[in-house]
Amino acid sequence: MKYIIEHMEQGFSEWVALEYAQIIRDVGASNLILSSLPEGTEESDIPEALVRMGLQWTTKPLVDIHEAFPDLPKLREKRVCLLDPRGKEDLKPQDAYEYDYFVFGGILGDHPPRDRTNELYRAYPDLLVGKRLGAKQMTTDTAIRTTQLIVERQLEFENIKFIDYPEFRFSKSEATEMPFRYVLDDQNRPILPDGMLDLIKKDSEQSLDGLL
Ligand SMILES: C[S@@+](CC[C@H](N)C(=O)[O-])C[C@H]1O[C@@H](n2cnc3c(N)ncnc32)[C@H](O)[C@@H]1O
Repeated sequence: MKYIIEHMEQGFSEWVALEYAQIIRDVGASNLILSSLPEGTEESDIPEALVRMGLQWTTKPLVDIHEAFPDLPKLREKRVCLLDPRGKEDLKPQDAYEYDYFVFGGILGDHPPRDRTNELYRAYPDLLVGKRLGAKQMTTDTAIRTTQLIVERQLEFENIKFIDYPEFRFSKSEATEMPFRYVLDDQNRPILPDGMLDLIKKDSEQSLDGLL
């Protein structure tokens, strides 16, 4: 299965780099393409860890990715699924046979969500079919993990175990609630990218410092 992330943020924050690294671990570098990086992006602009992991990236927009990766199948109308929190129907296991590509907005989660995923329909009219993964906002890596469970492991959305808005407690007085939905692992812990818990802790300490 091929997964495309349309990069829609400025550069690579630490958060984005950790998410993308986890997605490469989950789907394999050869199955992920990061498209629409700003014109003029060079390898030195990409976080080193992602380059080392074999990230495939291009400044080409989604519709032209085969120019950068000629071995990939062309994007055909209605065979490209956009995972969209405002989609009318939820993704189903049978969708594995309906689509060649699954596309995600490379957008940081925001609260309340600003619905920037929607901009992709305007950028690529007629190409994309929107499908939802439930109504709650997920991080990009969670959305890809959930899609993978549905189209590769053939699990129904209803049979995937999630947690909404988990609280991560770092000490008696320090805790952060994340306003997203996460997949649970077999020990009922939310799955986060490697290193993300440390980053959440660091960010929460910094915002506390700002208040002092
Ligand atoms: C952090 S979300 C961004 C949501 C966002 N606040 C927006 O402006 O659209 C990043 C990407 O994950 C995917 N995603 C997240 N939650 C989803 C859901 N419930 N259903 C379908 N796709 C979802 C979408 O592709 C979305 O562009």
